Amino acid sequence: MMKIGIYGGTFDPPHLGHMEAACAAMGHLNLDHLLLIPSQIPPHKFLPRETADGSARMEMAALMADGIGPRAEVSPLEFLRSGPSYTVDTVRALREQYPDGDFYLLMGTDMFLSFTEWKDAANIAKEVTLAPFSREESGSHELFALQREKLSGELGARVEIIPLPKIYPISSTKIRHLLGNKDTVEEGGSHLWAAVYGYVLIHGLYGVEVDLKNLSNAQLRAVVCSMLKAKRIPHVQGTEETAVSLARHWGVDVQKARRAAILHDCTKHWSLEEHLALCERYQIPLTELERGSGKLLHAKTAAVLAEHRFGEDPEVCAAIECHTTGKPNMTTLDKVLYMADYVEPTRSFPGVEELRRLSWDNLDQALCVGIETTIGELSEKNAPIHENTQMTLAQLKGT
Ligand SMILES: [Fe+2]
Ligand SMILES: [Fe+2]
Repeated sequence: MMKIGIYGGTFDPPHLGHMEAACAAMGHLNLDHLLLIPSQIPPHKFLPRETADGSARMEMAALMADGIGPRAEVSPLEFLRSGPSYTVDTVRALREQYPDGDFYLLMGTDMFLSFTEWKDAANIAKEVTLAPFSREESGSHELFALQREKLSGELGARVEIIPLPKIYPISSTKIRHLLGNKDTVEEGGSHLWAAVYGYVLIHGLYGVEVDLKNLSNAQLRAVVCSMLKAKRIPHVQGTEETAVSLARHWGVDVQKARRAAILHDCTKHWSLEEHLALCERYQIPLTELERGSGKLLHAKTAAVLAEHRFGEDPEVCAAIECHTTGKPNMTTLDKVLYMADYVEPTRSFPGVEELRRLSWDNLDQALCVGIETTIGELSEKNAPIHENTQMTLAQLKGT
C-alpha cells in the first residue's frame, strides 16, 4: 500500500521550518509520497493583508517540494475549491484519487491537541493516521501521550508521532515582516529555501523592494534557483566555484566571472517556445540551427536576461552568450566560464581530470580539447556543429 503524507498549511510563505518538518516526516514514516496542500481559505485563521495570493503560494510550495525531492509534490486540491477548506473534504477527495492510499495527516502541536474540535473529526480519523510533529524541546511528551490515548479511545484514531529535534525559531508572520523591511530582507530570506526566496524577490511579494538590476550575489543565486530545477543547482554552484578559482588564477575580474557563472544556465529549463519568444522580443538574430535547438538557445536567452533583467556588465553577458558554442576571439573571461562549465566538480566523463589540470596549466589548450571533445560527441550523433564552434577550433589551431 502506498504511504502518502498529507501536509496542509497556508505556506505564506513556505519556509525552512516546514521543509525540515516535511523531510522528518518522510524519513520517520518512510513515505512513498508527500503532498503539500496550500489552503485557499483556512478556517482556523484570517489571512493577513500582506499575504501572497493563492497561485503564488502554490508556486512557492512547488519550488519547496522540488527541493524536498522527487517524492514530494504540491496538490491544488484546496486551492481549487471555493469556500472554506475543511480537512474532511480534502481527505475525502484524496480517498477518491488514491483508493488504496495509506494516509498520514501531518499536523502541528496545536492542531493535534484541538483535534476533537475539527469538523467531522471522527470521519477524518477513520481515513488517516494522525501524524503530529512533536518538538523534543517543547517538553510536551506527556501531553501528547494523553491526547493519543484520548483520541484512540474516543475516535479509534491511529496516531504516529513524528519527533523533531528542535523548534524552528521563526514563524511565517515574522518572516513576512522581515521581508517587508528594507534592512532585513536578507535576514527574512535566510529562513527560506533559496528558490522560494528567489521567487519572493522576482515577484516583489510581502512588500519586498529590491532592484533586480542591483541584486547581491546571494539574491542573484536565489533568483536563479527559482528558475531552475533543484537537481541542476549543484552544477551551477560548481560552475561558480570553478569560475571564481580560474578567474583568480588567470587574472580575470572575479566578480564578473562569478556573476556570469551564476546566470549562465538560468533559462536551461525553458521550452523552445519560451526561448524563441524572448529572442523575438529583443530581436536577437538566429541561425536555422539555433531556431530548432533549446540547447543552443539557452545561452542566448540567459545572456538577454543577464543584460535586460539583471543589468549585468556587457562582458558578463558576452561570456554567457558563448558558453555553449564558443566564438572566435574569446576573451579570457569567456574562456574561464566555458572551461568552468566544462570541468566543474560534478562533471564526470573520461578525461575530465586531465582537462581540469589543463585548465590551470594552459587555458587555450584546455579550450581546444574541450571544443574538440564537443565536436567529436556531436559528430558521433550526426548532429550539426555550430559555426562558432568550428571557427573557435580553427582559430585555436591557427588554421
Ligand atoms: Fe549551459
Ligand atoms: Fe552549465
